[in-house]
Amino acid sequence: MVNAPTPSERVEILLTGATGFLGKVVLAELLRRVPHARIWTLVRPTETQTARERFVRQVRMSPAFSGLPRGRWAQVRPLRGELSKPDLGISPGMTRLLRERLTHVIHCAASVDFDQELGAAAVSNISASLHTLALASSCEHPPVMVSVSTAYVGPHPPSGPMREELVPLADDAEATYRSIMAGEADQAALLAASGHPNTYTFTKCLAEHLMMARRGQVPLHIIRPSIISASLRYPVPGWIDSYAAFAGFVVLIGAGRLRALRAEPDNPLDIVPCDAVATRIIDAALGPAQPGDASIAYAVVGLERAPTVLECCDHIVDHFGENPIDRKPYMSYVGSDPVRFELEHLQHHVAPRTLATAWLGLLGKERTRLGVQRLFERVSYLNEAFPYFTHNAFDFRPEQPLDLPEYEAEDYITGVCQGVTKYLMGR
Ligand SMILES: NC(=O)c1ccc[n+]([C@@H]2O[C@H](COP(=O)([O-])OP(=O)(O)OC[C@H]3O[C@@H](n4cnc5c(N)ncnc54)[C@H](OP(=O)(O)O)[C@@H]3O)[C@@H](O)[C@H]2O)c1
Repeated sequence: MVNAPTPSERVEILLTGATGFLGKVVLAELLRRVPHARIWTLVRPTETQTARERFVRQVRMSPAFSGLPRGRWAQVRPLRGELSKPDLGISPGMTRLLRERLTHVIHCAASVDFDQELGAAAVSNISASLHTLALASSCEHPPVMVSVSTAYVGPHPPSGPMREELVPLADDAEATYRSIMAGEADQAALLAASGHPNTYTFTKCLAEHLMMARRGQVPLHIIRPSIISASLRYPVPGWIDSYAAFAGFVVLIGAGRLRALRAEPDNPLDIVPCDAVATRIIDAALGPAQPGDASIAYAVVGLERAPTVLECCDHIVDHFGENPIDRKPYMSYVGSDPVRFELEHLQHHVAPRTLATAWLGLLGKERTRLGVQRLFERVSYLNEAFPYFTHNAFDFRPEQPLDLPEYEAEDYITGVCQGVTKYLMGR
């Protein structure tokens, strides 16, 4: 772990994505590790809440900060902004102030929705990153910038070791981005040419290229996490507040609702604790940097320690079998045979949904009927959106593996189950 700057060193950080899952852990870790830092958290308002209200409700009141010493919030300044706008939608006066003061920029914000239409995904994941970089570039002394990408930007389908370098693209990144923003790009053709399974990984990949090319004097570090899940230690063991990715499986398998999974049982799943990712991000930010430096680093557990799909399912079933939250969990089928999967899906998901919604419709229980329908859609979504990740082994090769002496797959999955139960389900 990189040593924190001394209190005599001025540290002023712009943090994006603090209302999100990873952003909160990064903020909590910054407050713990660099107690004298001033942190500007960019938050966008909604129709019903100001940025400050959202900051208080979604960040300050989050259990992620329950152990924070009193008075520490004085160093955190919520900032109203919108990353899709040039200058991040920040007022000109505030922009001037930030240009004078920022020493670091940590960019965690993105849309993790796999299925966004390409133009919208490009705004969330490319334009937002480029606008953040542009602000950093315009600072009096270019701040060190860390931008969070994903480990899954790599060649598709993966073949062989995946290194910490930009992934070759079929076309020029600037031209592709321009065509997307002009509404002239053919989404299906672009995804087919690159092999990316969805607009999320594709736009994250393009963002890496464009940021590297446009970084100028800004020292830029790109961090590529794999599947981020509950914390090992910080801010508290098991902390998680996102249903995205692995937590969705934990909830639905644990509740006995997901019983057939389209996946390669022996395929490894690289599930990394959110605090380990936050450590990598903060270390990259605080490490030595020269103008124009650039690096790419994975934040992954690695093939050797990653649990397999089947091990994950078994640990989840065991945990919730002993600590039930809903129905008794069991997996009837975990496999990649399409015919067998469809039969199991029909028996365990489609038929019960059809019977339940018909019966609830007859009883006039519309809300419950819609709830059953939504549950079915979530189960189906996991089986549609994730096979790419559950059928391919990704051999990420970080130059510096994460320092995770206490990571042991079975204990960690159990910790995720406990964290999901406590922090996501509130039980
Ligand atoms: N979760 C994973 O498993 C995973 C794995 C690998 C990489 N990553 C990367 O890790 C980062 C954090 O992901 P996460 O899981 O923490 O996502 P998350 O919980 O969905 O949080 C996303 C954050 O980005 C903010 N944001 C999005 N668009 C914005 C905009 N236009 N203006 C201002 N803020 C905006 C959101 O703000 P609002 O609250 O206003 O929506 C939220 O704070 C992302 O870069 C993601 O690609 C995540």
